[in-house]
Amino acid sequence: MSVFSAPDFDHHERVIFHHDQATGLRAMVAIHRDWTLPSVGGTRLRAYTSEDEAIADVLKLSRGMSYKCVMAGVEYGGAKAVIMADDDALRDREALFEAMGAFVDRFRGRFYTGVDFGLSVDDVRAMHHRTDYVCGLGHSDPAAATSRGVVTAIRAGVRRAFGSDDLSGLRVAVQGLGKVGMGVARLVHAAGARVLAADTNAEALAHAREHYGVEVMPVDRIHAAEADVFCPCAVGGVLDETTIGELKGRVVAGAANNQLTDVALGSALKARDIVYAPDYIANGGGLLAVVQEIEGFSDTELDRRLAHIGETLDEVFRDAESHGLTTAEAADRIAAARIAALDERTEMPASEATRKAS
Ligand code: NAI
Repeated sequence: MSVFSAPDFDHHERVIFHHDQATGLRAMVAIHRDWTLPSVGGTRLRAYTSEDEAIADVLKLSRGMSYKCVMAGVEYGGAKAVIMADDDALRDREALFEAMGAFVDRFRGRFYTGVDFGLSVDDVRAMHHRTDYVCGLGHSDPAAATSRGVVTAIRAGVRRAFGSDDLSGLRVAVQGLGKVGMGVARLVHAAGARVLAADTNAEALAHAREHYGVEVMPVDRIHAAEADVFCPCAVGGVLDETTIGELKGRVVAGAANNQLTDVALGSALKARDIVYAPDYIANGGGLLAVVQEIEGFSDTELDRRLAHIGETLDEVFRDAESHGLTTAEAADRIAAARIAALDERTEMPASEATRKAS
């Protein structure tokens, strides 16, 4: 695959390939945008079947990070790193991640990374032996911030659908009681909602039943629960034509990435008068916790930024209505416009470029 003609190339600033001979590390870093502030994005380890697959993944994910950043109101560019998993290289996992840390360090602070699919905190710790530009080892708790952001998104959706963001008496169906979903269950229960949930992990279900009075549902029926809100917090791709047809509530807002199997399915949700909070806005709380770790701002400032997720969603819902778009389309439209505005603002004026060159 050519990088320049890849579907998600979208004028990426840099795509860097790296091979470390000593460990066998094969990695790529894609920097979609490099504005004034550094670029951010996790590192993913996957057994890609080909280099093309890894290139397509890294470009799509780093572009997605720019969208997430601008909708979270932060001017960090999107980036992502992928490591092509290789059994030989993974025999000494610590050495592999130390080599990855050395690669990240070469960006001299223009790229911050942390845990994504396939990595553990120990892997980030190994990277940290060779670079300071990693997140997730400090006191911040991205999953807790994500849960709080998701609840803000649920409130925005409920406000749109029912005219008030009071959750008391509403029924919320949570798919996946992991780090984020459990936090959502706790918060909405505390706000007076009735929680229904499904998970493949019996321990998580027992905990949620005992502490938050959760009503347990089968894993394959949680989306169809008699609930006002469906909150996907497990895996992506849970909203297809069939599951959308079976939803009972008026609101979908959750943490899982890429909830719609196809962005065009936003129309199916719209046709059923279901308010969909686009996933990359609803789950922006984790990013805000990472930004807090980089910048060191106060918890009060984090609260303010998390609350802003609701205002952003209000803007998306209004934009969708006034332009006859789905909320997914409206979110992408607003994000693309914000990215274009930042591109323009950070572009060096021609006269200045000439002066520097001479
Ligand atoms: P996690 O791995 O802690 O929790 C996922 C939970 O879903 C687990 O309890 C698992 O047993 C359960 N699960 C898996 N398949 C299931 C199924 N088919 N039906 C029901 N439950 C199932 O993950 P975490 O951190 O809670 O993240 C949840 C989702 O949110 C993921 O898709 C993640 O990519 C996304 N996300 C998480 C962020 C964070 O800060 N942790 C930030 C942004 C997005």
